[in-house]
Amino acid sequence: MTQGATRRTVIATGAAALATGCGSNNGGDTSAAADSTGSPSPTDPTSPMTTASPAATGTSPAADTKKLASTSDIPEGGGKVFDAQKIVVTQPSKGRFKAFSAVCTHMGCTVSRVQNGTIDCPCHGSRFKIEDGSVADGPATKPLAEHPIKVDGNSIQLG
Ligand code: FES
Repeated sequence: MTQGATRRTVIATGAAALATGCGSNNGGDTSAAADSTGSPSPTDPTSPMTTASPAATGTSPAADTKKLASTSDIPEGGGKVFDAQKIVVTQPSKGRFKAFSAVCTHMGCTVSRVQNGTIDCPCHGSRFKIEDGSVADGPATKPLAEHPIKVDGNSIQLG
């Protein structure tokens, strides 16, 4: 009878150790934490670890990475650069959204701004049209690659 309670305590402690250990990758003292609660069996702590891992990693990061912006974030006749995703989203005309790679086709700088109908690269001055990513001004000679997106209500998602 007390064995069951002890076992439950070890499992709960193991899960707590996992929860605190997941955020940091500094060597892992999870076995030391399990040992400090008693010593029913050294094999039990591995069992909760394997069942807890998928739950700890299955926090749906895909849903967060899919949504890029709200339509209200993108000015009509302009656009916005998303540095982290290396994508620039434009709205050439009301309600029509386009997305392109933010990597300049000249030498690979990330474009930095959208103004006066063009997507501008800060490195050597290339400018690309917000309608189709084509070159408005060199030295770049190739257009920005178009990136698929989906507009769902007021949410712009990566396609
Ligand atoms: Fe963009 Fe040269 S890298 S203009």
